[in-house]
Amino acid sequence: MNNEGVDNSKRQFLTVAASAVGAVGAAFVAVPFVSSMQPSARAQAAGAPVEVDISKIEPGQLIRVKWRGRPVWVLRRTEQSLKDLASLDSQLRDPQSKESVQPQAAQNAARSIKPEYFVALGLCTHLGCVPTFRPEVAPEDLGSAWKGGFFCPCHGSRFDLAGRVYQGVPAPTNLDIPPYRYLSDTRIIIGDDEAKA
Ligand code: FES
Repeated sequence: MNNEGVDNSKRQFLTVAASAVGAVGAAFVAVPFVSSMQPSARAQAAGAPVEVDISKIEPGQLIRVKWRGRPVWVLRRTEQSLKDLASLDSQLRDPQSKESVQPQAAQNAARSIKPEYFVALGLCTHLGCVPTFRPEVAPEDLGSAWKGGFFCPCHGSRFDLAGRVYQGVPAPTNLDIPPYRYLSDTRIIIGDDEAKA
């Protein structure tokens, strides 16, 4: 009886010990597998959408944010600059943005979801330089017809305040508009649009 009791408890002990080792072994195998399924923090940061608070942007002011390592502009346009857009069509290469890149909700004359806020990738569509923001009307170096816009210093491409390219410059298309959407009246998210939400 006594022997049987000892044998039984030994067997139970060995069974429990073996299961514990098995469970630990499984955990060691499982952890690297699970973590390899997750994008690294660096990859997430590089591609993640970026939220932007637009509540503090003054009319006429442009702010810059980074998305996927690239500059994105958010410009709050004035009423006058929105009115001026309509007068420029005859000087532009693609005024209706048929050949240019933008989310469907921003394929309109102002190239934006809400006319007041213009969101664009701040890279020239010629060879990728960063154009300068030139909001002033008729400055000496850009001529009396200039109503404000963006000027690329590399090879002289010009864009209006909707990022539409002028005729006769090297850039082939309007500035690209990244995917974005409104989270509220004062917050937007860049890198994500309605279609993916
Ligand atoms: S890169 Fe802008 S004009 Fe060439």
